[in-house]
Amino acid sequence: MGLTISVIGAGGKMGTRVTNNLVKHEKYNVLFSEKSEQGIKSIEERGYQVTATEDAVKRADVVIMAVPDTLIGKISEQIVPQLSNGAILLTLDPAAAYANQLALREDCTFVVAHPCHPSVFAENLTPEEHEDVFGGVAATQDIVAALHAGEEDKYSVAEQVAIDMYAPVGECHKITVEQMAILEPTAAEVVTGSAAVILREAYDEAVKKGVPESAARAFILGHIQICLSVVFKSSNPFSDACQIAIDYGLEEIYQPDWKKVFDQKSLDEVIDRMLEK
Ligand SMILES: NC(=O)c1ccc[n+]([C@@H]2O[C@H](COP(=O)([O-])OP(=O)(O)OC[C@H]3O[C@@H](n4cnc5c(N)ncnc54)[C@H](O)[C@@H]3O)[C@@H](O)[C@H]2O)c1
Repeated sequence: MGLTISVIGAGGKMGTRVTNNLVKHEKYNVLFSEKSEQGIKSIEERGYQVTATEDAVKRADVVIMAVPDTLIGKISEQIVPQLSNGAILLTLDPAAAYANQLALREDCTFVVAHPCHPSVFAENLTPEEHEDVFGGVAATQDIVAALHAGEEDKYSVAEQVAIDMYAPVGECHKITVEQMAILEPTAAEVVTGSAAVILREAYDEAVKKGVPESAARAFILGHIQICLSVVFKSSNPFSDACQIAIDYGLEEIYQPDWKKVFDQKSLDEVIDRMLEK
């Protein structure tokens, strides 16, 4: 056993995913911390024991905070003073670190690591890889990681833990916390997530207008693929008429200044909302 890794919130969605991967490694001694009845039950049903948070934190070389972002500030205030000297605290989303809600300590290192999820353009997938749209089970994904505060050599340890907990991983892109916040929430959730909701609403609207459901589904899902290929892979150009329709959609659907969501003010606003400040 090389490193003791304590996962706080080990019975939640991410806690379950990351502990499932970490326990595969003999080099890690994984401790499970959880608060809710449901989370504790789920850990025990998976055959693991729950360790009291204070004990888990004190014994850990690496603490992973797999708790809701709204609680990271409060829980980090409780656990950071209990970390052992030189320990690493790993969070799974940049929001709390970006908003300076994460309690820090000079002798410890703070890293954020987030999955990119498997690419929509991944090729030659097995059925298991195809099924694993989230990543962390069968399909290879890249991840991003950032050193928020602390030492570079400890960052490298945290990066390897992140690669193992999100495995299989293609590449880990080292970026800053600010860059990660531009990617998520802004690019991935504010823009991509809302666009996905609009795509779904377009499908619902077509069905409401009388298009048979199966025809609408086939047509829209196929067009999502070809449109993404044209804009991201330049697979072939849009036809002249299609380009006119796209320009009409950009005018009618989006506000001309929509890219202001990438401004610092918008980023701060959405993160404040996410953290329920
Ligand atoms: N869910 C996703 O798709 C996803 C993807 C990437 C990153 N993340 C990040 O992962 C983190 C966890 O999110 P989630 O979706 O897994 O949350 P979740 O709500 O599914 O799980 C959180 C778990 O933490 C437990 N918990 C709360 N307070 C606790 C405490 N004081 N001590 C011990 N356990 C406690 C809860 O009981 C729950 O089981 C967040 O930072 C989130 O942004 C989530």
